[in-house]
Amino acid sequence: MAFPTLPVNLTLLALLLSVALAADNASMDAGIILLNCGGSSQDLEVDSGGRTWDGDNGSNSKFTPSVEGVAASASYQDPSLPSMVPYMTARIFTSNYTYSFPVRPGRMFLRLYFYPVAYGKYVVPDALFGVTAENLVLLNGFNALQTAQAVNYACLVREFSLNVSSHSLDLTFSPSAFQNGSYAFINGIEIVPTPDIFTTPDATFVHGDYRAPFTFSADIGFQTMYRLNVGGQAISPKDHTGYYRSWDDDSQYIYGAGYGVTYSEDPNVTIMYTPAVPKYTAPLDVYDTARSMGPDPQLNLNYNLTWILPVDAGFVYLLRFHFCEIQSTFTLENQRTFYIYINNQTACDAMDVIFWSGGIGRPIYKDYVIVASGSGQVDMWIALHPYISSRSQYYDAIPNGLEVFKLQGHGSNNLAELTPPIPQKPYVDPNRLSSGVRKSRGVILAAIGGGFALVLIVLFSMCVICRRRKVVKSSCKTSYAHRNRPTCVLVHHFSFEEIQLATKEFDEAHIIGRGGFRNVYSGEINGGRKVAIKRLNQESQQGFHEFQTELEMLCHFRHGHLVSLIGYCRDKNEMILVYDYMPHGTLREHLYGTSNPPLSWK
Ligand SMILES: *[C@@H]1O[C@H](CO)[C@@H](O)[C@H](O)[C@H]1NC(C)=O
Ligand SMILES: *[C@@H]1O[C@H](CO)[C@@H](O)[C@H](O)[C@H]1NC(C)=O
Ligand SMILES: *[C@@H]1O[C@H](CO)[C@@H](O)[C@H](O)[C@H]1NC(C)=O
Ligand SMILES: *[C@@H]1O[C@H](CO)[C@@H](O)[C@H](O)[C@H]1NC(C)=O
Ligand SMILES: *[C@@H]1O[C@H](CO)[C@@H](O)[C@H](O)[C@H]1NC(C)=O
Ligand SMILES: *[C@@H]1O[C@H](CO)[C@@H](O)[C@H](O)[C@H]1NC(C)=O
Ligand SMILES: *[C@@H]1O[C@H](CO)[C@@H](O)[C@H](O)[C@H]1NC(C)=O
Ligand SMILES: *[C@@H]1O[C@H](CO)[C@@H](O)[C@H](O)[C@H]1NC(C)=O
Repeated sequence: MAFPTLPVNLTLLALLLSVALAADNASMDAGIILLNCGGSSQDLEVDSGGRTWDGDNGSNSKFTPSVEGVAASASYQDPSLPSMVPYMTARIFTSNYTYSFPVRPGRMFLRLYFYPVAYGKYVVPDALFGVTAENLVLLNGFNALQTAQAVNYACLVREFSLNVSSHSLDLTFSPSAFQNGSYAFINGIEIVPTPDIFTTPDATFVHGDYRAPFTFSADIGFQTMYRLNVGGQAISPKDHTGYYRSWDDDSQYIYGAGYGVTYSEDPNVTIMYTPAVPKYTAPLDVYDTARSMGPDPQLNLNYNLTWILPVDAGFVYLLRFHFCEIQSTFTLENQRTFYIYINNQTACDAMDVIFWSGGIGRPIYKDYVIVASGSGQVDMWIALHPYISSRSQYYDAIPNGLEVFKLQGHGSNNLAELTPPIPQKPYVDPNRLSSGVRKSRGVILAAIGGGFALVLIVLFSMCVICRRRKVVKSSCKTSYAHRNRPTCVLVHHFSFEEIQLATKEFDEAHIIGRGGFRNVYSGEINGGRKVAIKRLNQESQQGFHEFQTELEMLCHFRHGHLVSLIGYCRDKNEMILVYDYMPHGTLREHLYGTSNPPLSWK
């Protein structure tokens, strides 16, 4: 970097230094850690955003007391790198290494910076590794180059949100055991404490026709997949109130030619944050720009404003839509009402921003949770379309921002891509009787065969569906009376041996229910507790799907009339769910001519 004259250079340097020092004081107060891996621990380096980074190469390094790994410099500086720091140096590990960062317990962003080029003798193809934080697997078999090339960037940032329970965050880098000579590398590590921006009292789980309130426990980890400033420009990580989050321009994800029309804030409209949507939710730049379908109602009725976002299959995702009416023409309810579709399922059929936010210039967000099924990478479809049944004044839709987070599953310690079993051929369920029902009612009907459970689950789900129907405008305008529902109790992980023992090696005599892609066994665990054990067929995609969704769902719904999930087993690629045993047989057995006593009408 050459400046024309010396004085200019010095002034700039002084300026940068003072900015750096001020920033550093603020950062330290806020518990922010910025580690320039492989950089000199003697100097503070300033990135293009004016933030100072500590190096970890040298004797007084704060976070690598026993210096392991090798500090190395990048062999090449890509012109598109946003900043020299932290990308131009790296720390290389040829064996496992754990950084221990001093933190305040609570939720924080962890950002990992990767610039995949050769570092001295360390060539790019050998960089293959995993990263874990505490016990949570963040990356597994990670190949930074492949990942960066896939998105056409020179460097990568991976952002996670973790709730750390102790005063230290241990971050382990482990070279892949499956490739000789593999190494792990990291260019920068950033830790930024945050409030609990994820406690969402009104998240809605969407699965087919089924919608229900959703909660997750406060300590799970998230990975940020997308953060889009819809209708606006990319926002670089600039200020601390925004926790140095960066926002992307959404237009690159729009499907087809239906880009709609973008808006920026009307000068007569002021954006006002509210207690429900505090300033840290998203910056002004997100709320004061938007994309709408456009001014032509006829055109709008004929298309969906659609984004396609590739995600990893086999995970649960939280989608946070940010809304704010910013045009002075939109001040009343039912002026602009629209559908929100996620993966072709109706997440919301009558979103009305003014109704929800209380007025023009008031931001609001809505959270939806879905399971991405399939295997490998799959496309997540997000679409908006006018809702006309309410005879709204305009046939239009408007979002301002969208965030997509991958959630750590309950009882799972993984956020890295899964490799679910891939079916050889489409599986035909020989148990025709129930397949039609299962198809339409999804997860909830996934029968467990062993007792009243099936029937009660059916009743419960119909009840939910009825209630949804009754409230005409459904999930969007209903505030669920479930605020005090319990958070998910962690279910137990059983070993395959325990399951074998409980079912006497899956003894036929223990079978209490059969299905196309599953059998249900009775069994005993913990020296006598009777349980129903459902073993899903590993080859069946349907089985995989059922396993995932049921594990997620039953974890969140505990009800006297619902069978409870005790645990699961995922050893040896098995997919086994363990439930409370319901004695007295199935409802069916009581209804259709058996020796079982008839049931009273009540
Ligand atoms: C940083 O903090 C120290 C002590 O708290 C103070 O003396 C110094 O002036 C601060 N530096 C800046 C640039 O604010
Ligand atoms: C790391 O420190 C050593 C010893 O001080 C030095 O020789 C080496 O060049 C440094 N590496 C980098 C990448 O700065
Ligand atoms: C390195 O870490 C990985 C993942 O945490 C673990 O599977 C492996 O056993 C560790 N290797 C050594 C030598 O500790
Ligand atoms: C690694 O190298 C050893 C000895 O050179 C060889 O026996 C082993 O098969 C190699 N492993 C892999 C995964 O390539
Ligand atoms: C972190 O998790 C604990 C439970 O493990 C919970 O009590 C706490 O509220 C969580 N904190 C945040 C900020 O989510
Ligand atoms: C803002 O309000 C003023 C006065 O009411 C009006 O003249 C002006 O046209 C408005 N500006 C826009 C962009 O609507
Ligand atoms: C949604 O529907 C479109 C058009 O019918 C289809 O191409 C796409 O695969 C569907 N997406 C999902 C996630 O099902
Ligand atoms: C919009 O998407 C929904 C859900 O995938 C679909 O049912 C509908 O046909 C689409 N409408 C148009 C006009 O493409």
